[in-house]
Amino acid sequence: NNRTKIKALLASAETGQEVIVMGWVRTFRNNQFIALNDGSTNHNLQVVIALGLVNDDTLKRLTTGTSIKVAGTVVPSLGKGQSVEVQATTLEILGDSDADKYPLQPKKHSLEFLREKAHLRFRTNTFGAIFRVRHALAFAVHQFFNSRGFVYLHTPIITASDAEGAGEMFRVTTLPMDGSAPKNDDGSINYGEDFFGKSTNLTVSGQLEGELGAMAFSDIYTFGPTFRAENSNTARHLAEFWMIEPEVAFNDLEDNMDLAEDFIQYLIKYVMDNNLEDLEFLDQRLAEEEKQKPQAERQEFGLLEKLRFVTDNKFERITYTEAIQILLDSPHYKKKKFKYDVSWGIDMQSEHERYLVEKHFKKPVIVTNYPAAIKAFYMRLNDGCEAGKQTVAAMDILAPGIGEIVGGSQREERLEKLEARMADMHIPAEEMSWYLDTRRFGSVPHAGFGLGFERMVLFVTGMTNIRDVIPFARTPKNCEF
Ligand code: 4AD
Ligand code: MG
Repeated sequence: NNRTKIKALLASAETGQEVIVMGWVRTFRNNQFIALNDGSTNHNLQVVIALGLVNDDTLKRLTTGTSIKVAGTVVPSLGKGQSVEVQATTLEILGDSDADKYPLQPKKHSLEFLREKAHLRFRTNTFGAIFRVRHALAFAVHQFFNSRGFVYLHTPIITASDAEGAGEMFRVTTLPMDGSAPKNDDGSINYGEDFFGKSTNLTVSGQLEGELGAMAFSDIYTFGPTFRAENSNTARHLAEFWMIEPEVAFNDLEDNMDLAEDFIQYLIKYVMDNNLEDLEFLDQRLAEEEKQKPQAERQEFGLLEKLRFVTDNKFERITYTEAIQILLDSPHYKKKKFKYDVSWGIDMQSEHERYLVEKHFKKPVIVTNYPAAIKAFYMRLNDGCEAGKQTVAAMDILAPGIGEIVGGSQREERLEKLEARMADMHIPAEEMSWYLDTRRFGSVPHAGFGLGFERMVLFVTGMTNIRDVIPFARTPKNCEF
């Protein structure tokens, strides 16, 4: 068909041009003006129907949600906020939408309500803007790495490895559903080694496979779904989320931080250059939301201001030891305002991370050199640590309003040290022989990180609940589609 998209039409159509447009009616007023949307932009196209163009029955059917096809002429518009509109010459209803039953009204709905109606929420301005921005960010991820010569490596979703060693995995089973599965003595199902004779899970991270790629291509990245069966019902955690994991041979921790900072700034600049209209809409949405809050709780900066600030300023870089000292010295700590105590060795809680970025530095912060005891087995042990204070070459990036957005490290490339650490952590070396081969044959220093894609989308859109930035959030209540 020779449909013109509304975004293109509003941007460049010339008066007098004949066009065909299709979309969904947002509103219909005075039996004359249709606000038509096709998802290409939040701006609706005004379609004008002259008296007598369609019969009364058709006029009644033009309600919110109805899909139509219009042929007409582009004419100058007198309405405000638009330079052109379409004077219809023919109008055809493609699909009716019963106004009494259609859940979306031509008014503002709460995010909670729209989460309940998640199957229809793409049709609202807010979710239209969010998911166009999400798309642009995904595109920019590939553009960034492609321009730097990285290879996009597809890592497996079903795997026997537990990359993070955190035990938060979804098990994959091939057991029959008909009740004939092998049973334990107590009658419960014996899952045993259930993936055709192997015990497997959904991947928590593509990193270890990514390292195999980096040891051949030098620079790789993964970008795919990852799964964590963590039972944390928070606004920052999903059971199924997307992660981008670059892995680079010959990089050390410093290089790793530079790459992560460049990457985040590139992504933000990309959407500011290509999706400004949607960002302006989201900026406005956030400003209205902030107005509802008491003065003291309002954010200091608007969304666009914040994004510009982050692309124009270097991130703060501090060690874990310095971070702990800042927390201990803070008025917040002295007034006992933290729920969780602070001391060297703790796994910082989100209240601590947010204090550092939102109250102390007021910008993104990269925290390095965490205690080995709270980090994964593959991170490189730092040499020359104080007794009892062994650290690893880890880095987390903390972002205002989000907390941890990136987790990464330089990897332990020394075979004996890695084997000793794995033995300490009871990680069976025989099953990880494929991984250890990277250290046996041509081992090199290397580093990488993981950016949580939804946390990045949260940051860029100014949304606050992670369920609102993934098209189909996996929560116990939302898994039908
Ligand atoms: O810090 P994490 O667990 O690091 C890794 O998985 C490493 N293998 C990455 C690497 O070095 N290649 O996770 C990385 C990021 C976090 O910083 C966070 O942004 C995001 O993934 N993330 C989640 N996002 C949404 N829901 C969850 N349940 C998440 N868990 C982690
Ligand atoms: Mg982490």
